Amino acid sequence: MLRIALTKGRVEEQFIPLLERAGIDCTALHNKKRKLILPLNESLEVILVKGDDVVTYLNRGVVDMGVVGSDVLHEQGHRQYELLDLNTGVCQFILASTEGFDLQKSKRLVIGTKYPRITQDYFGQKGLDVEIIEIKGSVELAPLVGLTDAIVDITETGTTLRENHLLIYDRLERVSTRLVVNPLALKQKKKDILQFTNLLKKYIK
Ligand code: PRP
Repeated sequence: MLRIALTKGRVEEQFIPLLERAGIDCTALHNKKRKLILPLNESLEVILVKGDDVVTYLNRGVVDMGVVGSDVLHEQGHRQYELLDLNTGVCQFILASTEGFDLQKSKRLVIGTKYPRITQDYFGQKGLDVEIIEIKGSVELAPLVGLTDAIVDITETGTTLRENHLLIYDRLERVSTRLVVNPLALKQKKKDILQFTNLLKKYIK
């Protein structure tokens, strides 16, 4: 039996079609209502969690695998668990601001983001010392109302940036959904995990 921690919401919605293409019956997920533990068949069980919690379940060994965005993994510093890029949920980290923003301005820049670690790494690599303000959502608002000079955020379609007249000043890393694995589970259930990942690999678009 393999147990997977699946990120609820968008990641979940895009993972179900991949499972189905691979011939796995996802009726239990479609009819889940408020259920959080969903056995799909005798050999596969899904638990639904918040993206930020996937690695917590993985680390404690209560799940063998997880499905989570690379943005979350990189922000948490957990890139070592990645096994497979599922090529869904593809988007891009960007540095954005209003027209006239100057990265090399002499004053210390204030940057708004949901991703302080990724932001710190980005500016650190540029040798720039910035003040980071952590924002939980609607990050695009920050430079518009003067809370910050710019933002580091994710863009998918670009709609939010466009509709709020924000410009992209730099592109950082690509983001996508990843399959992660507990290293101990990979040793103990190697055959089952490899069989499952090889099956998924065939159907990744
Ligand atoms: C994400 C991201 C952007 C938006 C970008 O936010 O932080 O705000 O999506 O998507 P777009 O380029 O397709 O417009 P999310 O929808 O997760 O909500 P949030 O604003 O509450 O963080």
